[in-house]
Amino acid sequence: MNIKKLIIDCFDEEVKVNFNLLPENIATPPNNTMGDFCMPCFAWVKTLHKSPMEVAKDLTTNFNYEGVVEKTEVVGGYLNFFLNKKIVSLNVLAEILASKENFGKSDEGQNKTICLDFSSVNLAKYMHIGHLSTTVIGNCLRNIFNFLGYKTVAINYIGDYGTPFGKMITAYKLWGNEKDLNAKGVDYIQDLYIKFCQEAENDEELNEQARICFAKIENKDPEIYPIYEKFIKISIDEVQKIYSLLNIKFDSWRGESYYSDKMDPIVNELNKKGLLQDSNGAKIVDLSEYNLGACLIRKSDGSSLYATRDLAACDDRYNNYNFFKSLYVTDVSQKLHFSQFFKVLDLLDREYAQNLHHIFYGRFSLPDGKIASRKGKQAILKDILSYSINKTKNIVNDNKNLTEEEKEKVSTSVGVGAVVFSAVKNEKIKDVVFDLDEALDFNGETSPYIQYTHARCCSIIKKSNVADDCIYDLDFNQIDNESSYELLKTLNRFPDIVKQASEKFEPCFVSRILIDISKAFNKYYSNNRVVEDNKTNKTRLALVMATKIILASGLKLLGIDALEKM
Ligand code: ARG
Repeated sequence: MNIKKLIIDCFDEEVKVNFNLLPENIATPPNNTMGDFCMPCFAWVKTLHKSPMEVAKDLTTNFNYEGVVEKTEVVGGYLNFFLNKKIVSLNVLAEILASKENFGKSDEGQNKTICLDFSSVNLAKYMHIGHLSTTVIGNCLRNIFNFLGYKTVAINYIGDYGTPFGKMITAYKLWGNEKDLNAKGVDYIQDLYIKFCQEAENDEELNEQARICFAKIENKDPEIYPIYEKFIKISIDEVQKIYSLLNIKFDSWRGESYYSDKMDPIVNELNKKGLLQDSNGAKIVDLSEYNLGACLIRKSDGSSLYATRDLAACDDRYNNYNFFKSLYVTDVSQKLHFSQFFKVLDLLDREYAQNLHHIFYGRFSLPDGKIASRKGKQAILKDILSYSINKTKNIVNDNKNLTEEEKEKVSTSVGVGAVVFSAVKNEKIKDVVFDLDEALDFNGETSPYIQYTHARCCSIIKKSNVADDCIYDLDFNQIDNESSYELLKTLNRFPDIVKQASEKFEPCFVSRILIDISKAFNKYYSNNRVVEDNKTNKTRLALVMATKIILASGLKLLGIDALEKM
């Protein structure tokens, strides 16, 4: 129910036009003694030379108190609206139950495509804790845009190019063997790589060999290239395991190597437009007048750079998908890189340059000493996930209502969900120190808490034995109380929240509303008996159903399983 729009409809037509009243003018007051919604009147005080009190009086000329608003009040410069609880409650409830999983969806994205570059892992390395946020935030934004009717293209711009591959393959040729490679996969490649780096400290010759080896990869040397391809395949299989645990699918895996021989056109164009400059033998675009330093396009040895490949990739994406927006999700440390190459595209007069967005987030780390990181490096994502799954298993094992198979499922969904949620719980720019005990606290502001609330709704619905369609004779008297009303109002915020999350690229809006809904539900449920003397109160049950619908939708947006039982 679009309450804000309905409030606007209560104003007199002429007032509406004169004051240019829009749903966006309406805000939510900090607490409900100030009404359900409010409208700040300050904007007109100056132009009309009137006090907020007088402005409010003008605004409420011929105001319709028969509609969704029952009463208005002016307090401290705000016009506060008190809604008709019966109208709101019954309409919200009926709308959610009728729309089901479509509640909050829209078609604003119709015929628009959004590209999302996220996760974008460097291959032949472990996915570590630093990859969690890009993967989870990117996936969640993708789900949100799909929900709003956009077509999305999830791109895993894999790091499958660069001298590290020369080093790994050199090491493999020197010290490795196929049997171990097949048996140990990425672990083995990482060991070889670490050995290479150690040995190379005392042996410059090795680095030279690695450079030659990398050149052979680029030239598709018949001996070296198949090894490279094998390394790539092994790594992709490895990361796919994590994506499948996280329930994430990509539409494109076109990575850095794909662009390694496709950069000439854009470099030539930069040259022709006089944007390219020499700098100690390297080629740069000078962006100092925009406070962005110099964007390196080619190194002095002629090799290309990260930015150059991104420029080529961006054109390619535009040509393929004609995107409405193209998003890149990485940590904040890459801010300059993105600002630079976006600016270069702008200087090249790309019409789409304004539609590129770098979505950055803060550091996600573990407290010292928790989950030993392998090989002295950052903690590895698959270790964190299995640690969390195992911990959940210990909790779930005592639950006698679950079969062994269900226990497995619940442990995985809850364990993974707890990790996922931690990455989207707070504003993305905030640094997060991940605390697994906290993330798994069923009574905290966590995904297990939301999942548990959802499962609780499912079990209440199941026990009540009432079929879906018997809830159409809703009786307001059964839910005429504060906790029911709060719950319904919170549920009704969902569509607006999803929209805001999409505008600000902020998944935490969705996480928060799910926490708010779960809290409101648990309060509602402890104050209202759904089943009394073996009889189900259908209107009260309808609230449980509505809650279940929205929690399931929201969890799906976050990429977390909504379990029926746990
Ligand atoms: N592979 C890069 C890294 O791990 C991230 C790539 C982000 N996307 C891009 N188009 N530059 O740091």
